[in-house]
Amino acid sequence: MGKDFKRYLITSALPYANGAVHIGHLAGVYVPADIYVRYLRNRGRDVKFICGSDEHGVPITIKAKQMNCSPQDVVDKYHKIIKDSFERFGISFDIYSRTTSEIHHRTASEFFRKLYDEGKFIEKESEQYYDEEAGQFLADRYITGTCPKCGAENAYGDQCEKCGSTLSPDELINPKSAISGSNPVKRKTSHWYLPLDQYEPWLKKWILEDHKEWKTNVYGQCKSWLDGGLQPRAVSRDLDWGVPVPVEGAEGKVLYVWFDAPIGYISNTIELIPDEWEKWWKSEDTKMVHFIGKDNIVFHCIVFPSMLKAYGDGFILPENVPANEFLNLEGDKISTSRNWAVWLHEYLDEFPGQEDVLRYVLCANAPETKDNDFTWKDFQTRNNSELVAIFGNFVNRAVVLTHKYFGGKVPSRGELSELDRDILSTVPVIRESMENNLENYKFREALKEAMNLARLGNKYLTETEPWKLAKSDMTRVATILNISLQLCADLAIAFEPFLPFSAAKLNGILNVGKMEWDLIGNDKILAEGHQLNEPVLLFSKIEDSVIEAQIEKLNRTKQENMAKAAAKEAEEVPEYAPAKEECTFDDFMKMDIRTATVLEAERVPKTDKLLKLTIDTGLDKRTIVSGIAEYYTPEEMVGKQICILANLAPRKIRGIESKGMILMSKEENGGMKIVSPEERMGNGATIG
Ligand code: 2FM
Ligand code: ZN
Repeated sequence: MGKDFKRYLITSALPYANGAVHIGHLAGVYVPADIYVRYLRNRGRDVKFICGSDEHGVPITIKAKQMNCSPQDVVDKYHKIIKDSFERFGISFDIYSRTTSEIHHRTASEFFRKLYDEGKFIEKESEQYYDEEAGQFLADRYITGTCPKCGAENAYGDQCEKCGSTLSPDELINPKSAISGSNPVKRKTSHWYLPLDQYEPWLKKWILEDHKEWKTNVYGQCKSWLDGGLQPRAVSRDLDWGVPVPVEGAEGKVLYVWFDAPIGYISNTIELIPDEWEKWWKSEDTKMVHFIGKDNIVFHCIVFPSMLKAYGDGFILPENVPANEFLNLEGDKISTSRNWAVWLHEYLDEFPGQEDVLRYVLCANAPETKDNDFTWKDFQTRNNSELVAIFGNFVNRAVVLTHKYFGGKVPSRGELSELDRDILSTVPVIRESMENNLENYKFREALKEAMNLARLGNKYLTETEPWKLAKSDMTRVATILNISLQLCADLAIAFEPFLPFSAAKLNGILNVGKMEWDLIGNDKILAEGHQLNEPVLLFSKIEDSVIEAQIEKLNRTKQENMAKAAAKEAEEVPEYAPAKEECTFDDFMKMDIRTATVLEAERVPKTDKLLKLTIDTGLDKRTIVSGIAEYYTPEEMVGKQICILANLAPRKIRGIESKGMILMSKEENGGMKIVSPEERMGNGATIG
């Protein structure tokens, strides 16, 4: 464990209260953090486990717009759902608070003010995107556009979710306001910046030299940020939701959410232990560890430490930041907007009493070093062939046999065989390996070792066959069952950090209270003659039908998403690019542009933009679907002479075959007008 610390301050990322939490959250952050915390507590360490909802920032305000309610309503709703899900999964926070709390506003505000007063910020005027229709500046996620790195549409002003790149709004191609959809303009605004460049040499030493032990993915990301050179980073935003910037003349400005959220770790500690918090945050005896997902690395390894460094006053820095990669679901990225997730509140309702199964699967398959995939089939297999067939089966056999032969009392041990001694001496080896893995944030490996302990027990019973010996050698049976029951007690302790509900159940069967970690490997945890309770099953088999129902649920989501995407595509009006590549005369001559007259026009049902037109081209009568419903009513269109590209390959729009395209001119204000000959001509006259 290296240095001996007196206290352990463990934080896990504050989830945004703009939606419920899903398996990705649990696997990436909260299950590993909870395992670590429970392990430390079981070892008798002094631990505080801090978390809460992140209730500021643009994601909340966007959600409020979508839900047509206030940001406060949004965070009230989701804070409750998130807190409840965590509780029901046994995530054992010492506090789960929220950043809209009065204490947090005060703490964050004072933090900013001290840095401001000490001249630690730079104030800078810059041009930022402004939505003239909505009358507001467009911070971060209020701007969407094409990602300059991967070309994905709908990248945000601060990040592309497709490729994970961190972006600034200026980098987006074709930026659009997420509020009104209009093209934003640039306007001058003034903000405060934390000059990260000034902290670069210090960060380089602190991370690249002093923390070589950090996980490869974390170290690597930090290195690439530091090698790329750090820039001053704005810590305020033009927004009406958040902690107001505590400076005169800063009306309409709030602290950037990534400035206030990590301060939430401090304010939530203050809320938990108002008189003692400084002892935790300002003492070299405290080991602070931040559990986060990979998209939070820069903020926890570079920005927040620089804030703490700038603040000074004895604030400690994290000893480690064990960030995980992402969990996918059935081969596809988890996505809230596409509803591609297993929501924790839904799982809890659909799998009552099976919280530990999900905890187990998410840890056994945690994305510790690379992105991983959750599949329902794997979930079923791990439950049926590991939890039920190995762990549950061993405990059940040992306890049932003890009831059968010894009235449920722990039998006395006779002389030990070589095998017995082997088994007993393997337990401390497994314990040590678990400890090494747990101390080094390798929770998958630690869990594997715990399961190996159960495997060992099963093997022992299979090899010794006490049910056969019962006819001839009860002394031997007593010894075997005594050892098996000690193993059950070892398992209850070793699994507690991972499967707290099952460990408690097992304690109930063994008729003991919660046991300390250090008892693992003590070969007399249960005294001879100790009375056990009746066995209950720790785990139960999950049937195919249950898994199929979940897969079916995901398939329905997939179909709904496909239908939505098709509808959106059909509604999209093609955009006219500002400048096109040069084309040859021959290219131009390929286009068959002609005059035509609209005979009939009607709206395409369930769309806002599409008209279905029947036109006379002189050559034939045909149908064209056109995105002009915003500019012309069907009545206005009938009888109009238009120009069309007649030989455009037909395509289906909303299930209607459209043959050709109407020529339109686009006005600067975004309006569209039909292109018509100056005077009416016959239909089918060629243009060129
Ligand atoms: O990525 C997120 O969900 C952020 N809300 C995490 C914030 S962590 C911290 F700094 F509070
Ligand atoms: Zn991208």
